[in-house]
Amino acid sequence: MSEVRHLVSAADLDLHALNNLLQASATLMSPRAKTFARNTVRQETDSTTMIYSFVEPSTRTRMSFITAAELLGMTVQGTENAKVSSSAAKRESLEDGITTLNQYAKKFGHAAIVLRDSEPGAAQRAAAVSEVPIINAGDGEGEHPTQGILDKLTEYLRRGRQLGNQVHFYVGDGKNSRTIHSKVQLDLLFPGNEFIFATPKGLEIDEKTRGRLEEAGAPYLEVNSLLEGLEETEGKARDFYFTRDQEERRQAAINKAFKNLNVLRGVKLTIEDRRIKKDFMRDCILTPEILDREITEDDAIYHPRPQVGEISALENDDPRNESINQMSDGVEARMAVLMWAMRIGLFKNGDIIKTIPLD
Ligand code: NCD
Repeated sequence: MSEVRHLVSAADLDLHALNNLLQASATLMSPRAKTFARNTVRQETDSTTMIYSFVEPSTRTRMSFITAAELLGMTVQGTENAKVSSSAAKRESLEDGITTLNQYAKKFGHAAIVLRDSEPGAAQRAAAVSEVPIINAGDGEGEHPTQGILDKLTEYLRRGRQLGNQVHFYVGDGKNSRTIHSKVQLDLLFPGNEFIFATPKGLEIDEKTRGRLEEAGAPYLEVNSLLEGLEETEGKARDFYFTRDQEERRQAAINKAFKNLNVLRGVKLTIEDRRIKKDFMRDCILTPEILDREITEDDAIYHPRPQVGEISALENDDPRNESINQMSDGVEARMAVLMWAMRIGLFKNGDIIKTIPLD
């Protein structure tokens, strides 16, 4: 019996696995390949299910997972708002909750559990007690590996399936953005990439990300504004990756301080919060002027969304705008991830099968 294939962190993927996932996802863009994948799943197993449990809000991640599972002919069941509407509200532990979901998942021939939690490390804890693959759909400010995969897929399709030798220009919240935390690890699997991070003071990339860049010996630069970064990268084609200010993470820390009657700390955090918001609005937004003057036709603009003003200046159909493609590509990326985790369909023996019909 082979090991359960969880996807908790981008670190669970090596270059071989990521390339397989990208190739499978790109193939799945064709309706014929979708039908082939669904039929292959059906031939192998009489029942499949995806069970999801989401503690934090989600539009794209949840909907694209459901779409992906349904396209594969899987049944889908799950809980949104799980802190309120599951037994977590009665203080049931994460581990007990996952053990419970396992009992229903195991009635099926094959299953996967998709989990979004507010605590970093939650997916790892879930995987430790689960006999069914756990797919991390975001754990607090920790990681969001399937978003990283779909982001790479959109790049892969834009660049004629050639990744590497890119200038990755991250803008926004390097501290709390789990999508950045996962994606940088996937960028580092390809040779020749350089990095620039434009983040306000207080939202710089976390130590783990910095450590990974150092360890890989990748060139990277940290600045405090989009404009500074633009100066540094003038003349190069850049893949911008905008993120929003994840202010709810700071708000949670402020609420906690006041709740614990740590008033001084609460006040300090509130002042810091206002300063960060101001800096973010001034320095990390793609204004119409910057878009017109600084962003060339060789540049591409990505955003995991939701965007709340960071890229509003950009029309949906602007050829530099990849963020709409990212939403759509999430479906094929997640179809591939589900099959990869369950080792079925296009991933029958663990690796991608090579006899996929192409249109
Ligand atoms: C992100 C998330 O939830 O981490 N969105 C997503 O999944 N596409 C980004 C965010 O919330 O800012």
